[in-house]
Amino acid sequence: MARVFSGIQPSGELHIGNYLGAVRNWVALQDTHECLICIVDYHAITQAYEPELLAQRTFDMAVSLLASGIDPARCILFVQSHVPEHTELSWVFTTVTPIGELERMTQFKDKSQRQESVPAGLLNYPVLQAADVLLYRAEIVPVGEDQLQHLELMREIARKWNARYREGFFPEPQAMLSQARRIAGLDGDAKMSKSLGNTIGLLEAPDRIWELLRPAKTDPARVTKKDPGDPEKCNLYSLHQYFSPPATVRDVAAKCRSAGWGCLECKRVLADNMAAEFAPIRERAAALKAQPERVHEILADGARRAHAMARETMDAVRAAMGFLPIQGARVRP
Ligand code: TYM
Repeated sequence: MARVFSGIQPSGELHIGNYLGAVRNWVALQDTHECLICIVDYHAITQAYEPELLAQRTFDMAVSLLASGIDPARCILFVQSHVPEHTELSWVFTTVTPIGELERMTQFKDKSQRQESVPAGLLNYPVLQAADVLLYRAEIVPVGEDQLQHLELMREIARKWNARYREGFFPEPQAMLSQARRIAGLDGDAKMSKSLGNTIGLLEAPDRIWELLRPAKTDPARVTKKDPGDPEKCNLYSLHQYFSPPATVRDVAAKCRSAGWGCLECKRVLADNMAAEFAPIRERAAALKAQPERVHEILADGARRAHAMARETMDAVRAAMGFLPIQGARVRP
């Protein structure tokens, strides 16, 4: 079974961009692949965050992932900072990563523009991401489109380390995109993103979904109910394609083109279908929140299993790079 690794930051709620772009793929891959899913808290601290909320957000992310269908019997779910080898390998990788490549990353450019003083951690963010995946020598990385550049750099880091220390040791991981490779936010064109506040959370209650959808942007050509629209220019039409049955999607497109109904009516149908898809997820999340010790157990078990795999890689990395072993410690060739 090929090994899959992916990660998500605990920097806010799990939203439908994450869900459609990545998490649904993770859930599906559990049947056919060996999967590791990681809540990347060390990545989340590269931008301003509230220390008093970090633990809760990490826990809540675990709940949302489990409620979405991540199954600890078929997948290793764990928290990045519980496995210290992530930062250990990340340091090693900084020594083979060209600074110029890091400065070229569009996410770095975007995020650093928003800051007065740019922390080195933000620059090194993709190096830690490379360590996350390569620590488990994973080959497949299911992500949204925004991660493709980081994946490209990850392959370069693997090639550089291999060429210098041990040919063929790290695989060159490939991205796996879902059909929903880039979900736009409710405000129109920008990517749906926690930091832009244009999201719909997966655990949102039905009234809140409606509250968020009601003012959401549609085809700008539809000023009044009588103006015909172009569904292809409407962000909410693309959401219908993920949440509504095919017959409804066809009906939505026809009514939009013929001005057969208003955007508000169209949004009502979408809100109801979304609420229906979220309902079982919300129920499972509530059940998990009622037994927090079970969630902690799952994460501890995930960390134990991930740690054993990670240590094996680090032992081999240390040996290949010529580090002095601790006397008496087991070192794999
Ligand atoms: P993060 O936490 O921003 O997002 C988690 C996953 O959700 C995808 N995603 C989207 N997909 C489609 N449309 C959107 N609007 C949208 N918003 C988010 C992301 O592409 C991602 O797959 N750097 C990563 C976390 C990470 C990681 C890793 C991922 C750290 N180490 C190793 C893969 C492998 C990030 O910030 O994801």
